[in-house]
Amino acid sequence: MCGIVGYVGKRDATPLLLDGLKRLEYRGYDSGGIAVHTPDGIQIRKCMGRLTELEKDLTANALIGRPGIGHTRWATHGEPSQRNSHPHQAGAGEVIVVHNGIIENYQELKEQLRSAGHEFLSDTDTEVIPHLIQQELADGAASPDAAIRQALKKARGAYALGILFKDDPDKVYAARLGSPLIVGLGEDETFIASDVPAIVNQIQNVIYLNDGEIAILSPEGVAIQNLAGESIEPEIKPVDIAPEAAEMAGFETFMMKEIHEQPRVLRSLLEKHVDREDTVIVPEIGFSTDYFQQLRRIMIVSCGTAYHAAMYGKFLLEHLTGLAVETDLGSEFRYRSPRIESDTLFVAVSQSGETADTLASLRLAREKDCKVLSICNVPGSSLVRESDSVLFTEAGPEIGVASTKAYTAQLMAFGLLAIHIGRARGEISEETEQQLMKALRAVPNAIHYMLERADDIQAIADKHHDGPSALYLGRRFNYPTALEGALKNKEISYQHAEGYAAGEMKHGPIALINEYLPVICICTQTEDEVYEKMISNMKEVEARHGRIIAVATDGDKVVADFAEDIIYVPPIHEEFSPIVNVVALQLLAYYAAQARGTDIDKPRNLAKSVTVE
Ligand code: G6P
Repeated sequence: MCGIVGYVGKRDATPLLLDGLKRLEYRGYDSGGIAVHTPDGIQIRKCMGRLTELEKDLTANALIGRPGIGHTRWATHGEPSQRNSHPHQAGAGEVIVVHNGIIENYQELKEQLRSAGHEFLSDTDTEVIPHLIQQELADGAASPDAAIRQALKKARGAYALGILFKDDPDKVYAARLGSPLIVGLGEDETFIASDVPAIVNQIQNVIYLNDGEIAILSPEGVAIQNLAGESIEPEIKPVDIAPEAAEMAGFETFMMKEIHEQPRVLRSLLEKHVDREDTVIVPEIGFSTDYFQQLRRIMIVSCGTAYHAAMYGKFLLEHLTGLAVETDLGSEFRYRSPRIESDTLFVAVSQSGETADTLASLRLAREKDCKVLSICNVPGSSLVRESDSVLFTEAGPEIGVASTKAYTAQLMAFGLLAIHIGRARGEISEETEQQLMKALRAVPNAIHYMLERADDIQAIADKHHDGPSALYLGRRFNYPTALEGALKNKEISYQHAEGYAAGEMKHGPIALINEYLPVICICTQTEDEVYEKMISNMKEVEARHGRIIAVATDGDKVVADFAEDIIYVPPIHEEFSPIVNVVALQLLAYYAAQARGTDIDKPRNLAKSVTVE
């Protein structure tokens, strides 16, 4: 949902801004722009489309100067166009702004500003911000930061802002409310950015701005203040991401790199949370055994791929803890009248920790006095800061828009959490815990074997990618896997795909089945009580001449009788099979997308971090 970056220092701003924007492009890629103080005054360049267009423009016609700000856009208000691209300005470039977020009362503000003589050139909500600030300056604000403070008091909504002033050519101003923004500290230079990976190769330390804070970046350093103008001592933290983590490392896409990172990510998550006796250790959760024994209910809320992880978490928690567990989508939960009380643990799941609907739901749970536990991948994110405790997925920066390693890490985190709570509540014995841990430990290697079978999966994708639609079926723990497989497919290959609980097929989707429809059936567990049910469902597909692609366990002799193609996965404990099976579906979607020629890391219309409702 838009990425912003800014630079103050002795170097030329343009290449640094472009580099930062490229690393933020996963947040939005319908247009980009930068504004830089040059010896001839502030200059703005914007281009429709991908950042390569902006780069071409800047190569043909260099923009040399400093400091500067930049933006990559994912349109909310106003179509993607040159006119609506950021930066936006007021007057003759007196105030120039890049923005991520939404100014909800922009219509009302626009009307007021229009009656005061302001003219607007775009359809965006953002444009009111530079005009509001300019108006405050005209009304006598004592300084640029005073003007920003006054202006922001009038704006309602969410923002991360980078601001330049024509008459204050050494500084970049920044402000945050509800949208992510960090200040990066390098050697004698400072940056702002929507996330750490954008500037990780330039900085050593970071300040995570809090809501309602304004940062003033100058050649002397950084000053932070709140909306009342009081100065604030920032907490400076070292950057703990290796610069290579945000690079492609020889892979053709970030998504392929991230798919391949999964065994390592899961292995280290396990190492961190399991001791020599195969006991789960999650001290960061911080809730006592007593708390878990008193607990009556768990409510898990999330969006997108994280919602599928939540569904898996529900099945596993119910299975291992004896608790009542419910899930909901953030966008639904926040408008319900949920019956949650202090005996409910609220679990928020989010890769970015910035998803607007998940955050709003968390705040609602807080009002009801629930404890909040987050499963999150990004330290310093809003979700992390607003939770009582956090189980970090520690998957490292995920840049491909379609989530892969963050998802499997969320599933693994639910595995650890369910075992931990199950033990605390006395629902599972020490022996069961050890058996489960042994099974969980087998997951990274099983994924490794899956990756070695990528060529077989590619051959299947090549055969089936060109149909208009695909159906994904699974049951029990692998019902969410079917949903996630279908989501991956539609996100990156643009083939319509639907995930269904296999038992529900008879209640509608069966009408779609004909000799053209690929039906991906997940039936990996020969020991599992739902295996036979899955086989019956597959027979129903076969009887209607559907094209069955089975995901089955090595050595399975049954499915070969009626599946057109089979993706074999190594045997794995049924509870944890989704963590392995989904990798097969990630690869299937990936190769289908490749065959269909889409932009895999940046699929059309999507953004990785959805910071608006
Ligand atoms: C977007 C992304 C998805 C992600 C979802 C939730 O839709 O494209 O990949 O699953 O947001 O994001 P979160 O950061 O909360 O997990």
